[in-house]
Amino acid sequence: MKEIDWANIGFGYIPTDYNVRCVWRDGKWGEIEVSSETTINLSIAATCLHYGQEAFEGLKAYRCPDGKVRVFRMEENAARLQATSRGIVMPEVPTELFTEMVKRVVRLNEHFIPPYESGATLYLRPLLIGTTAQVGVHPAKDYLFIIFVTPVGPYFKGGFSTTPYVVTRDYDRSAPLGTGCYKVGGNYAASLRANTWAHEQGYSCEFYLDAKEKKYIDECGAANFFGIKDNTYVTPLSTSILPSVTNKSLMQLAADLGLKVERRQIPIEELETFEEAGACGTAAVISPIERIDDPETGKSYVFAPDGKPGPISTRLYQKLINIQYGIEPDVHNWTTVVIE
Ligand code: PLP
Ligand code: COI
Repeated sequence: MKEIDWANIGFGYIPTDYNVRCVWRDGKWGEIEVSSETTINLSIAATCLHYGQEAFEGLKAYRCPDGKVRVFRMEENAARLQATSRGIVMPEVPTELFTEMVKRVVRLNEHFIPPYESGATLYLRPLLIGTTAQVGVHPAKDYLFIIFVTPVGPYFKGGFSTTPYVVTRDYDRSAPLGTGCYKVGGNYAASLRANTWAHEQGYSCEFYLDAKEKKYIDECGAANFFGIKDNTYVTPLSTSILPSVTNKSLMQLAADLGLKVERRQIPIEELETFEEAGACGTAAVISPIERIDDPETGKSYVFAPDGKPGPISTRLYQKLINIQYGIEPDVHNWTTVVIE
């Protein structure tokens, strides 16, 4: 294996030794297979290629200072993948199968789990695709479920440091009754133009409003939004955003820290009133927001005039990563030790 400069890897793709696979055929899941191939053999008429019958997940394994390897809330990712399967008419991967495959793939790729000190982690990417060859628009009969892994560094440059975001009004990533609440590739295809536009202008990410009225905050690229004011953690309630496992965890941690927690519609003008704001997700962890610019109104909502993450975001971040790394007691039973 080539030496990896763990402390300097980005959020990219480094192939690893093994992935695990399971096939749905004749109405049932088969045995778990271990593969060292990084490619798949797929019909050119597979439904995933033409009609977007594809779903994915994202979770991480952490090499902890006590030498153990932990995975964070994998049952939540299993449940969300099941919801996505119902959303685009695919068979559900049972939680036991999902968690067994997570454990297997982490153990098989132990060499690729970055050291604690590097700040990098092992990202797990579960992928479920329809493989039946057909050209009619119907759900496939056959499916392939894969989990592969890749070591990753921070999603946004600098990790836990503030960066600027920009409101996009010209592009929507999802519709109120569409697939925004599911983790399907089509949502990400729909986000590429806005994301490219935001990057071209020097922003770290695009910021979405609700597609119907363009009045309320939805989410930030591939992460949920939260704002802090008056000792309250506020996060959007919307049918077109992904229910984030990280956000769900932060709502609990905020409550544990004595904050009020509100999940509700957030009108864009309310941004003015937040003392701190952040993007949160598995890849983003907490990415504190420096400011959000709205080119249409010319407004700039600034949360970090000194460029530094706010005190509550910092406490939430510390608390979250301390649990993920087994440093603080895991009182909510969120982590699973995969390697002792
Ligand atoms: N929103 C979108 C669109 C995402 O892709 C992600 C990443 O998974 C999130 C939010 C954050 O979700 P989670 O915290 O479960 O990773
Ligand atoms: C994640 O946070 O796991 C994501 O899926 C974000 C992105 C890489 C799509």
